[in-house]
Amino acid sequence: MKLERYSSRKDLYARAVDIIGNAKNYGATTFGLATGGTMEPLYSIICESNVDFSNCISFNLDEYVGLSANHEQSYTNYMDKYLFRHKPFKETYLPNGLADNPKEEALRYESLLQHNPIDFQLLGIGQNGHIGFNEPGTPFDSLTHLVTLEQSTRQANARFFDSIDEVPTQAITMGIQSIMRAKCILLIAVGEAKRDVLQRVLDSEYTEDIPASVLTKHPNVMILTDLQE
Ligand code: F6R
Repeated sequence: MKLERYSSRKDLYARAVDIIGNAKNYGATTFGLATGGTMEPLYSIICESNVDFSNCISFNLDEYVGLSANHEQSYTNYMDKYLFRHKPFKETYLPNGLADNPKEEALRYESLLQHNPIDFQLLGIGQNGHIGFNEPGTPFDSLTHLVTLEQSTRQANARFFDSIDEVPTQAITMGIQSIMRAKCILLIAVGEAKRDVLQRVLDSEYTEDIPASVLTKHPNVMILTDLQE
């Protein structure tokens, strides 16, 4: 794992856009994308940049179960609002949160992923170490699956909803193995709330209790953070 620390978030996000642009120049066409507060500034800078995704396809990490695509807080809506509307991709995919059978939807999504290997995966990290919605204890060999969100994750995401009761209890997420298949991974960890968990990953703990710790075994991971030692 390579780590770069930035005292300025502006510099951090500029570097992230640079890395993404370089990946494109080296032939990446299939991107794994994330949502959340960490990615908003990134997408905003990407939208102002000249990086062109019109020959690229994207797969998002996850989607809430039970929210329609046009629900304000669905990840489908998030991606449209912050990125796709401004930077068109050739094709974009997210799990369907309204599928009649979410378990079957997870299998369908996993099969799409296996047919379209991800060149470049963007990741945020949860305070409990989750990547995608793979909560602590998720097996490292997991594929795309239906997950019940931890209360702490719902609490962390309640800021985007009117109240915690409105935060869905389930999601469909790429599995840890699905994420680890990406050729290259960029993880962004910003803000004090991520300090402890990031430190545990950097200390090379390798445990299913910290899903992000799996990244210590990936050959091509870059971490950008604004947290100083
Ligand atoms: C979102 C996702 C999550 C977030 C994580 C951090 O698609 O997969 O793993 O990256 O919860 O969220 P923020 O950036 O809001 O702190």
